[in-house]
Amino acid sequence: MSKLLIKNIGILQTPIGSYPHKGEEQGENRKIKNAAILCEDGIIKEITSDGKLPNGSGNAGMIIDAEGKLVTPGLVEGHTHLVFGGYRQHEIPLKLAGASYLDILAAGGGILDTVRKTRESSFKELYDKTQGFLDEMLCLGITACEIKSGYGLDLENEVKMLKVAKKLNEDHPMSIVSTFMGAHAVPDEYKGRTDEFIEFLCNEVLPHIKEEGLAEFCDVFCETGVFDVPQTERYMQTAKDLGFKLKIHADEIEEIGGSELAGKMGAVSAEHLIAIGEKGMAAMKQAGTTAMLLPATSFYLGKTFAPARRMIELGIPVAIASDFNPGSCPSLSLQFAMNLGYLKYRMRPEEILTAVTINSACGIGMGDKVGTIEPGKQADFVIWDAPDMEMVCYRFGSNMALETIKNGILV
Ligand code: NIG
Ligand code: FE
Repeated sequence: MSKLLIKNIGILQTPIGSYPHKGEEQGENRKIKNAAILCEDGIIKEITSDGKLPNGSGNAGMIIDAEGKLVTPGLVEGHTHLVFGGYRQHEIPLKLAGASYLDILAAGGGILDTVRKTRESSFKELYDKTQGFLDEMLCLGITACEIKSGYGLDLENEVKMLKVAKKLNEDHPMSIVSTFMGAHAVPDEYKGRTDEFIEFLCNEVLPHIKEEGLAEFCDVFCETGVFDVPQTERYMQTAKDLGFKLKIHADEIEEIGGSELAGKMGAVSAEHLIAIGEKGMAAMKQAGTTAMLLPATSFYLGKTFAPARRMIELGIPVAIASDFNPGSCPSLSLQFAMNLGYLKYRMRPEEILTAVTINSACGIGMGDKVGTIEPGKQADFVIWDAPDMEMVCYRFGSNMALETIKNGILV
């Protein structure tokens, strides 16, 4: 049996419970002073306070002295497009000259550019590149993440992307949840035939992905010029009938009804929501759908910020993620998204910690395993180079994670 003891923790701060936290509870964290944590075989066994050490600490094989610093659960990254070929730095001059995100996509660039490069990339190239991203994420304090497909847009290449994620879940310390996002854009070969592409996904791709067990969730980009509400509904209904859990990119750029559909379909999460209105929020509240908010994308696209305070007031669970992708957010820093959560969403540090731990964990179906520091959960922690969450949310542009512990091992 391998035992890990983390002692001399200045403040151990964590939400409590394995369900999405909403309203007042979003801002409720347990704060334990002068704490210690004992873990056995990668699982949390006992937590103590006031300088006491847990029973059975004596023969711990590894002891970490937190030197009075803040310790939180490992961060959970609930929304990424981590597997892709190439990059898109050539889009910046186009953006600066006035082209919008949707203009670039409509002209065959944007996501479609990445689709071409992803189709050209081998399994090994994608595997190696994604492994590098996962290594960086661990250093940034992230211990579990979601990965979406959606740059293959045909059977062969969507399967290739999802197999990369699956193999990395086996090989890499990071816990990975996969989402099939075949409805990310309309590929060149279906240009002008969006309904036919949706039928292709529903009849040929979704059943195959399900049969092969390659993804737990299904996602779609419901947006002007991409997939409209009826097309999105057809795809989501098929996915639901096949047993996928649902996610949706909704109201990212224009409010066309995606968040209302999320509520109607009982989606686990709706993501982006920059342009959401009261009707969409009412539908999400009714269904208990989590708002997966992506403030670094608002920043990078030069958009406004989702109405997080209103969502918390209404009782919608709010999660924060990065949206890492080569177009609208080429940054892996969930910490930067947390800074934006503080300044732009005006969320309190406690609310932000809930957003990047238990609420993200529930948003990717991992709430029973990760997202809080409680006995029985995975021993995933961050030791911060900070005395409290206020400091973590206030500093930006530096990596404030001093040490990351995954499954009871210092990584
Ligand atoms: O969440 N909006 C759609 N998908 C991604 C961007 C993907 C890309 O531009 O490559 C997003 O922002
Ligand atoms: Fe996204």
